[in-house]
Amino acid sequence: MDPTSETPPAAPSSPVATGGGLATLSVEDRPAADALPLDQREVVFDCEGVGVRYDGKRALRDVDLRIHANAVTALIGPSGCGKSTFIRCLNRMNDLIPGASVDGAVAYHGENLYHPQVDPIEVRKRIGMVFQKPNPFPKSIYDNVAFGPRVLGMKDQLDDRVEQALRRAVLWDEVKDRLKEGALGLSGGQQQRLCIARALAVEPDVILMDEPCSALDPISTSAIEDLMLSLTNEYTVVIVTHNMQQAARVADMTAFFSVDQGETGARCGVLVEVDRTDKIFTNPAHERTEAYVTGRFG
Ligand SMILES: Nc1ncnc2c1ncn2[C@@H]1O[C@H](COP(=O)(O)OP(=O)(O)OP(=O)(O)O)[C@@H](O)[C@H]1O
Ligand SMILES: [Mg+2]
Repeated sequence: MDPTSETPPAAPSSPVATGGGLATLSVEDRPAADALPLDQREVVFDCEGVGVRYDGKRALRDVDLRIHANAVTALIGPSGCGKSTFIRCLNRMNDLIPGASVDGAVAYHGENLYHPQVDPIEVRKRIGMVFQKPNPFPKSIYDNVAFGPRVLGMKDQLDDRVEQALRRAVLWDEVKDRLKEGALGLSGGQQQRLCIARALAVEPDVILMDEPCSALDPISTSAIEDLMLSLTNEYTVVIVTHNMQQAARVADMTAFFSVDQGETGARCGVLVEVDRTDKIFTNPAHERTEAYVTGRFG
C-alpha cells in the first residue's frame, strides 16, 4: 500500500527517545528541504497496523503509513472515517481522551512513540498541533505566543521569538500594535493564525493541523496555505482537510481514508491508499479513491 516502502532508514541526526524524553533536533541540523526526492527523505512517522478504539469500539484499524520529513502530507476522506482520530495518534493526543486506546506501532524518527519511557508532554512539545476551532488562551496576544517558550525555559530574546512566530503565521502586521490586548478580541481567522504562531514559537519538529482553515475566509486560507508550503523548509507538516483543492495545492503526499462497514453493521475507518498527491487526484489505484476525489462519493 505504501509506495515509499523502499525508503532508506532515518538519518542519524534524528531525535531519539532518551530514557523518558525525545532529544531535540536543532533547525541547523535538519536536512535541506529539497535536497532529496520525497521518497528518499527521512521517515518521520512510520505507522504500522495503527488502530484506535473508543470505549472498546473500533473506530480505525490497520493503518500502515509513512510520513516523510520536510513535506506536507494531507489526510482526506469522508466525515467520520477517522482522520482526526489518526492525526491524534501522531502526538499522543488520544491519551487525553478517556476510553480511547491505540494499538499497532507508531515510530517517530525510528523510536517507539508509545514506549512507556517516552514522556507524552515532551512528544507534544516536538510535535505541535493546531485544531479546527481556534483555542487561544484568555491572555494577551503576546502571552499566547510566549506561553510555550516560557514554560520550556526558552526565555532568551523572547520578544524576537514572539515576533518571528507571528510573522511566520502571517499575523504580525495585524497585531504588532496591540500585542498586549486580549487574544479573544481577535477575529476567528486571526485567532487561528495566532494558534499557529503559538505552535511555531517552540520550534517544533512537526506541525499537525486538523482542518486549520475550515473557519477562515479565502484570503486567510490562502495565507495559511502559503505558510504551510514555506514551513516545509524546516518542518514536517500533516494536515487534515475536506478541501480537495487545498490538498492538491499544498500536499506532497495525500492519504485517503474511508469507512468500511462490517457484517454486523459496525463502521470502522480504514486507510484506502496513500501516494503522491498528483497520483491520488489524477490516477488513484483504488476506485473508492477516484469516486471520492471526483465527488461521486462522500
Ligand atoms: N472522543 C470520542 N469518543 C467516542 N468516539 C469518538 C471520539 N472521537 C471520534 N469518535 C468516533 O470515531 C470515528 C472517527 O471520528 P473522527 O473524528 O476521527 O472522524 P473524522 O474523519 O475526523 O471526521 P470529520 O471529517 O467529521 O472531522 C467516528 O465514528 C466518531 O464518532
Ligand atoms: Mg475530524
